[in-house]
Amino acid sequence: MANKFYITTPIYYVNASPHIGHSYTTIAADVLSRYMRQALGKENVWFLTGTDEHGQKIQKAADAAKLSPQDFVDKTSEQFKSLWKSLDVSYDDFIRTTEERHIKVVQKVLQILYERGDIYEGRYEGLYCTPCETFWLESQATGGLCPDCRRPVEHIVETNYFFKLSKYQEWLLDHLKKNTDFIKPASRYEETLRFLELNKLNDLCISRPKERLSWGIPLPFAAGHVAYVWFDALINYISAVGSFDDKGNYQSKWWPAQLHLMAKDILRQHTVYWPIMLHALNIPLPQKVFAHGWWMINEDKMSKSRGNVVNPLDMVEKYGLDAYRYFLMREVPFGLDGSFSEESIIKRYNSDLANDLGNLVYRTLTMVEKYFNGAIPDIKLSPDSKTSGEILAKIKDLGSRVSAGLGDQDFSSALEAIWELIAMANKHIEYTKPWNLAKENKQDELKEFIRLLVDTIREVARHLYPFMPRTAESIQIQLGATVIKKGNPLFPRIETEKK
Ligand code: MSP
Repeated sequence: MANKFYITTPIYYVNASPHIGHSYTTIAADVLSRYMRQALGKENVWFLTGTDEHGQKIQKAADAAKLSPQDFVDKTSEQFKSLWKSLDVSYDDFIRTTEERHIKVVQKVLQILYERGDIYEGRYEGLYCTPCETFWLESQATGGLCPDCRRPVEHIVETNYFFKLSKYQEWLLDHLKKNTDFIKPASRYEETLRFLELNKLNDLCISRPKERLSWGIPLPFAAGHVAYVWFDALINYISAVGSFDDKGNYQSKWWPAQLHLMAKDILRQHTVYWPIMLHALNIPLPQKVFAHGWWMINEDKMSKSRGNVVNPLDMVEKYGLDAYRYFLMREVPFGLDGSFSEESIIKRYNSDLANDLGNLVYRTLTMVEKYFNGAIPDIKLSPDSKTSGEILAKIKDLGSRVSAGLGDQDFSSALEAIWELIAMANKHIEYTKPWNLAKENKQDELKEFIRLLVDTIREVARHLYPFMPRTAESIQIQLGATVIKKGNPLFPRIETEKK
């Protein structure tokens, strides 16, 4: 394992407001960052997110809002920043592609690739969907319609600049075969491999004529063209960490990234275009690209164009931030699609949070108050103890299980491990019946019993912190050092029948 951790989310388009899909990737990155800060120290973790602010979509949205593109993106990128703040997202840097530090690097990259002959001038003739900003083959655009949005495509002829993807196809295939962990989950790796084995890569058209689109980064060697938004956007991952800075350092402390996170919709850009761009620039590749699944509403992907988006802030207002974060990370194995519904949030909330976690904390603290006047029994537990041994073993095991889960971006299994301990502790209470120990005045046993529960909660809070920072802190505060400060139940049950 590298001794630093650089993690990125996609930079989101600012033409629409953020929804739960965007928050999913960003919260996942936040969980990993918080976890890695605990493991490696704060100074060795860098969490980058940001906004993708050029291109046709943005220009159109700005027009519709009757704002200049710059005013529009200034306004909308703030929505993302403020949402991340509300969701306790602890990013280290937020990059915007309209920033000078980014534009400079994009132009540098273009210039280098042009001089090396990897970018060349060519003529493009074919079908184009303006709203989607995508070129299509005759065979794809059946009936003259864009296969994505079903709107008519246009026939265009124009001079453009192309990046020689085709030249690097064999190299990429070879790289993937040698680095089977480069793309996760495995199904996405297989998909990329198959795609490269079955198709011949076309060179990528990386420019747009200014008369068709002016809202972009000008090509340094062709005044009449701006860069294609994807070519511009991918470069954020290196521009944000100061590649090609004034001293000519290609690598900063952070590059290469340990992990690029995203959903499967933008897999190809990250597993084909981006590695080839980096390789052509002689820059090391990121360690891993993880493409998770989609949150669906019924059978549809959540998206602005389908009009089915859910606002994360509404969910937070109803169920609380940590319940929302927990739900996203627990409900669906990372990598698979999930179906989003409030019923399933409520179910998780009531069973896992109110019943399991909330009750364990509340009951334990109530007993510390009742039997020991709030003072945590000052004794040392022994792993050989007949009554405590099993739970102590589970606690001992928890760190490595959480670490294994998070090392594979398997959030739900890490949480499952924590909940196994919680369940075991709850069972222990029911089985031991502490009220009987108290009645029979078995002081030593009662002390051991309570201490075990307090230690369990402390461990649970420590491991929960990356997922649910506020809850973890609240538990830690309630536990205090030696005397507890019990608060209200963490997750009061949501009564659904009454609604
Ligand atoms: N701007 C590009 C990314 C450039 S990265 C160099 C882009 N932006 S986007 O706003 O469309 O964001 C796409 C990403 O948002 C997905 O890859 C995923 O991280 C997240 N999600 C958007 N909708 C989602 C779901 N319905 N479900 C899960 N994640 C979703 O593409």
